[in-house]
Amino acid sequence: MRLKWAEISKNSLKHNVKAIREMLPSAEIVAVVKDNAYGHDLAATLPALLEAGVTKYAVVYQRDALMVSELGAPWVLVLDDFPDAQLAEEYARRGIRFCITDYDWIERGVLELPIQFHLFIDTGMHREGVPWYATDAIKKISADLGSRLEGICTHMAHIAKDSELYRLQLQRFEEALCLVPDSLMVHVSSSGALHVGVPSYATHVRPGIALYGYTHPEVKPVLSLKATVVHARDVDEGDGVSYGWRWIAQHRTRVVTVPVGYADGYNRLLTNKARAGVNDFTLEQIGTVTMDFTMFKAPSEVRVGDVMTLLGEWGTGRFWADDWAEAIGTIPYEVLTGLSPRIPRIAV
Ligand SMILES: Cc1ncc(COP(=O)(O)O)c(C=O)c1O
Repeated sequence: MRLKWAEISKNSLKHNVKAIREMLPSAEIVAVVKDNAYGHDLAATLPALLEAGVTKYAVVYQRDALMVSELGAPWVLVLDDFPDAQLAEEYARRGIRFCITDYDWIERGVLELPIQFHLFIDTGMHREGVPWYATDAIKKISADLGSRLEGICTHMAHIAKDSELYRLQLQRFEEALCLVPDSLMVHVSSSGALHVGVPSYATHVRPGIALYGYTHPEVKPVLSLKATVVHARDVDEGDGVSYGWRWIAQHRTRVVTVPVGYADGYNRLLTNKARAGVNDFTLEQIGTVTMDFTMFKAPSEVRVGDVMTLLGEWGTGRFWADDWAEAIGTIPYEVLTGLSPRIPRIAV
């Protein structure tokens, strides 16, 4: 009997690729699969993306790029990791290219490596990138790299139609764009582009969270979290549940236990706030979430061995990563990447 697992829906992934392509027809997708495909697991995710015809991928670390390449991706962009010179030929052979995200990298000899590069411009996020005003550096990188400079990009601190910040970042990026050849790949937007489109000069778009089904109504969540009920008991009126008895029974109540706790990424802040489903029933989470187990208030029909949906939807309810995030004051990104590796991800 499987105790806990996450299902990765291949159909939802493919649906999301199609939806993004339809909404942004002028820009090719560079799928952001960093952090183990936002917690969905690269091995469970890549085959569906490749089947959907996605050929370009972005990760943060070169170690992940090698993994993505092993899984069959012909083109991988490392967003922010200094390339290992000894592996440069392997990177070139595997189609792994790197962003130049710091001017200091030039002094460290990055331009000599026989690989392809994208120039990452800092336009206001101030996390990484060569600043847009460093015009001499931008010209030098462009001249020194010649045809090994494949693309130019930035990352937005905010994407919204009426946002001053977004406009300012675009304007700064456009100043940098004037300093490099017209033929480069240009990518400036993440999933936020689904709401505002991409600028006319952008050849590519880098969606992450939208691929996994969040932040736009046209996309479908990909990851569902399941667990099997391992214990069931009835507690009397006045009895409490879990550490500190932060939930007290108002009447005789059936309590069921699933083997998922905060060590699995089932955040302790969900205590008395989460919902889950069994068949058509919606169950309220009760009592402090513990390290390895969590309890729910259940109707008498729920038995040991029943499969519960802790993240996902069921007949009459839902508790997706955005519901979870809202319950504890975070974002779906953190919920998804916070699910522990001890939960097997299974492509379905
Ligand atoms: C550089 C870069 N590009 C693209 C993305 C994808 O962003 P989103 O998941 O909002 O689409 C990220 C995510 O943080 C990023 O850091």
